[in-house]
Amino acid sequence: MIVAILFAHVAGCLALEGEPRELRLLGMLPMTGTAWPGGSACLVPIQMALADVNAYPNLLHRYNLTYKYIDTMVC
Ligand SMILES: *[C@@H]1O[C@H](CO)[C@@H](O)[C@H](O)[C@H]1NC(C)=O
Repeated sequence: MIVAILFAHVAGCLALEGEPRELRLLGMLPMTGTAWPGGSACLVPIQMALADVNAYPNLLHRYNLTYKYIDTMVC
């Protein structure tokens, strides 16, 4: 019993040492279109914010933020 608990504890600690898990964000940005194709202007601060969050490993412990967007093409 104690051996099993110890083994589970060691296995849990080893799992914590692995690669960070990917936490995917999906956004909708108007990259093309005539009304307001301002998505590219929004993308830069989004990427800067993600880089800042990822730079602090204890902020989202064991997670790595990634971002993808869909072009909403506002007409
Ligand atoms: C974390 O995600 C960024 C993209 O947001 C990527 O460039 C980087 O390689 C990733 N880091 C790890 C450790 O997976």
